[in-house]
Amino acid sequence: MPVITDFPEWEELKKHVPVVSKNNINKLIQDPDRINKFVFKTERLLFDITKNKIDSTALDILFRLAEKTGFNQKKQDFFSGKPVNTTENRPALHHALRSYENKTLPYPENIRAEARQSLASIETIYNRFCSTDNKKITDVIFAGIGGSITGPKFLSNALKPFFKENAPAVHFLSSPVTDVKSIIENLDPKTTIVIIASKSFSSVETIKWWSVIQNIFVNAPDFQKHCLAITAAPQKAIDAGFPEENIVHFPTWTGGRYSIWSAISLPVIFQTGPEVFHKFLNGAAEMDHHFFTTETSKNIPLIFALLDIWHSNGFEYSTRALLPYHPGLSLLTEYVQQLEMESNGKSFVIENGIANYKTSGIVWGLPGTDCQHSFMQLLHQGTGIHPAEFVGILKDSFNSDHFNEMLVANMIAQSTGLACGSETGDADEPYRRFPGDRPATVIFLKEYTPEAIGSLLAFYEHRTFAEGAMLSINSFDQWGVELGKQLAVNILDNLNTSNNDWIKSYDKSTQNLLQEFTRKNR
Ligand code: F6P
Repeated sequence: MPVITDFPEWEELKKHVPVVSKNNINKLIQDPDRINKFVFKTERLLFDITKNKIDSTALDILFRLAEKTGFNQKKQDFFSGKPVNTTENRPALHHALRSYENKTLPYPENIRAEARQSLASIETIYNRFCSTDNKKITDVIFAGIGGSITGPKFLSNALKPFFKENAPAVHFLSSPVTDVKSIIENLDPKTTIVIIASKSFSSVETIKWWSVIQNIFVNAPDFQKHCLAITAAPQKAIDAGFPEENIVHFPTWTGGRYSIWSAISLPVIFQTGPEVFHKFLNGAAEMDHHFFTTETSKNIPLIFALLDIWHSNGFEYSTRALLPYHPGLSLLTEYVQQLEMESNGKSFVIENGIANYKTSGIVWGLPGTDCQHSFMQLLHQGTGIHPAEFVGILKDSFNSDHFNEMLVANMIAQSTGLACGSETGDADEPYRRFPGDRPATVIFLKEYTPEAIGSLLAFYEHRTFAEGAMLSINSFDQWGVELGKQLAVNILDNLNTSNNDWIKSYDKSTQNLLQEFTRKNR
């Protein structure tokens, strides 16, 4: 099977890089026509890539390259439920959870039915626990790891202005690095719900939390009735002591990092009610429709995936800073980090062995304006170039303190500063020189609504899929995390044995570390 580097357009692209490199971004953005060419809009979002080193010729080559890689057929396979997750032989249909009613999309009928059923079961649970005569739920303890927590944590923060009155507080438990035990010990078990979320029901951190929670509430009468398991492995949840009627299934074709659209978001639905969650799903469904139906040259997630490939392979930029400038988006970087890097941080190319080109770069960042008092120094004046992606909200009707104005002003200022630089400062003060010519992308939610948030996350998902598809990567497995899990389990098991002979099976460096630990703890 040919890969992206096998097509003549790849060479054409490589040859065009030095041509574009000569153009300073500061100069490029003096051209008013750039707004027509490089600003894209949907009903909810605005995307501005004007301040990137890209021109119409580059885009034209990239579009032709996308078509050569079979992107359109791969997109068709993705939406029609073909097993695009080839190593696990399953489809990746998380988008069906929000778009199952869209007849333009080629979902098989059984998938539509399963998605409909999945949403219905969320509502049944909501009604059971949050109906008007049973509304005294003050707290939710939610334990999960990776994709089973990053989504609801992001969403609970993002949808805060849309919470219903007396919404329960949600206490998120993932890796045991934060001390939340002292908080949950003081909760009233009568008004607390526990949710254990794990697709496999085998992640060690999550299962450990379940036993810690059971120990804390061991004397609370009927406490099991307040405990829910969200999983695609119901038998394991039954074995762990969950009543069958408290097990919420989610479809196996929903990957962990794509599960925000599923029952995994139940704690947030307890806070907002189902209507707000539907709006969130609807916004994402709009992006699905755009992505599936829009031609190559206007397809926004595809354009961004191509820009990512252009940056990583044309310019060898190895990282991208993702900088959200709004409190509701403050966990966006963490969310997109898992989405992009766990999906495309791979070198195995389907049917072709190891990639001879760059796949996913590193996504990193902090919310603005904190980032400005930290690593923005390096983005403005460091030796390496790291494209910055700013995400903000144009109209925030919930903000009465003009904070949004301050945030947007800073965000725009940073983007112009990176692109244009500054020559101010005397000749004898070269350290005050800002070279500029550094790429900056701006994404705006037009309004702060659940729909816009849904649309934004679906945009990031489809951008990730498009990049993986064009680079011949399976974006839906995550074998790279398995080795660490196995090694840790072995070490943990051995630490509980009485002698230390097992340590000798490790390399000298690791032996030394294990000995340091056992000396202190035995
Ligand atoms: O460790 C990575 C991972 O496999 C993620 O992909 C997944 O979201 C997470 O673990 C949690 O898995 P589970 O939901 O099965 O507990």
